[in-house]
Amino acid sequence: MPATTPPAPTITATETETTAETTAEAAPASPSHPDPRPECPAWPGAGLADIDTPALLLDLDLMRANMAQVHDRILGAGLAVRPHVKAHKCPALARLQLAAGATGICCQKASEAEVFARAGFKDILVTNQLVGRRKLERVAAMAAAGVRIGICVDHALQVAQAAQAAASQASTIEVLVEIDIGHGRCGVQDAAAALELAQAIRDAGPVLRFAGLHAFRGSAQHMRQPQQRREAVQAAVARLREVVDTLQAAGFDCATITGGGTGTYALESTLGLYTEVQPGSYVLMDLDYAANQGDPGEAPLRHALSVLCTVISVAPGHAVLDGGLKAFSVDQGLPRLALPGWNVKGLSDEHAVITPGPGAAPLAVGDKLRLLPGHCDPTVNLHDWLLACRGDRVEAAWPVSARGALF
Ligand SMILES: Cc1ncc(COP(=O)(O)O)c(C=O)c1O
Repeated sequence: MPATTPPAPTITATETETTAETTAEAAPASPSHPDPRPECPAWPGAGLADIDTPALLLDLDLMRANMAQVHDRILGAGLAVRPHVKAHKCPALARLQLAAGATGICCQKASEAEVFARAGFKDILVTNQLVGRRKLERVAAMAAAGVRIGICVDHALQVAQAAQAAASQASTIEVLVEIDIGHGRCGVQDAAAALELAQAIRDAGPVLRFAGLHAFRGSAQHMRQPQQRREAVQAAVARLREVVDTLQAAGFDCATITGGGTGTYALESTLGLYTEVQPGSYVLMDLDYAANQGDPGEAPLRHALSVLCTVISVAPGHAVLDGGLKAFSVDQGLPRLALPGWNVKGLSDEHAVITPGPGAAPLAVGDKLRLLPGHCDPTVNLHDWLLACRGDRVEAAWPVSARGALF
């Protein structure tokens, strides 16, 4: 950190309000810094050497190239793009996605949606089953405040609870019936069950509005071969078509059919039926997604996200970095050094031990190294700040405002 007073980070008024609101009951740590969380690891203008570590970095140029590639493909095919912000939990980045043509955003949790609603987002789909009076009343309150908000259902109890909550807030919640298209997670199994739920939504009256279908197959995203992914989405479309026909015959219009992600967005865009795609990881990327073999003719998405660490100790045969399990999610494997020659041997809570391969350049205490995470979403959720960089310079420090919004 520079010795002089750092310039204020480039955060918007709404993000500042969100921070203050979420800590309203905590005693201020200091009058000049009301949030008791640690200071930002770097301010705009800092170079790599001045960034406190571990720090989450976003390469703006690579992020913009990823965003353009995916949005162009989806929008060019005439579908809407509704990015899943659970990947980055960062309103500043979601604003750039809206500016690049996104219709609205997806969230996974009611609390996540609240953070984005407070930050000014007006069109939010919660791609999840919400159960419980309090949760649904919070959703209904967002609708009452003027947010177009949708939820997913696969059981009559969720419909009844949503209707009750919306009535209590005099608002309208949009409801999509989720179809299990092979993921084996949430969703009804057949057209008859979908029709029953659509009827329950209609019977609830004006507090609920049937908006269409949600059909996401997470496992298809990570199938390594393009042909495997194509077959999975083709099968999904066939299954969905049956549901749409059944609903249409009963007078239900599926205005929105939404799903898809970073691994299959090009398929949902071109195989018909889907009206909207909801990719999340594409703006960041991670090692797991990079292991997918790309679609023919599609340039690979680039690693825009990395975690910067500092070498804090050097020993014969290894070096130690200051980022461990609290800086990286390892559910999809260990992070990888962007620097060739060195390998991550293992992580403990606060450390990474790295070992040199043939031809590795020597490292010194104080060196800064970028590492690519195995899985972007849970890695971002470990950090308070996302440093938006151009090359090796920090351009903005963005709060990861919905970090930890799990309920
Ligand atoms: C319902 C839903 N939609 C979209 C996504 C975005 O997927 P990805 O990050 O793989 O693009 C996810 C991610 O798990 C999801 O659960």
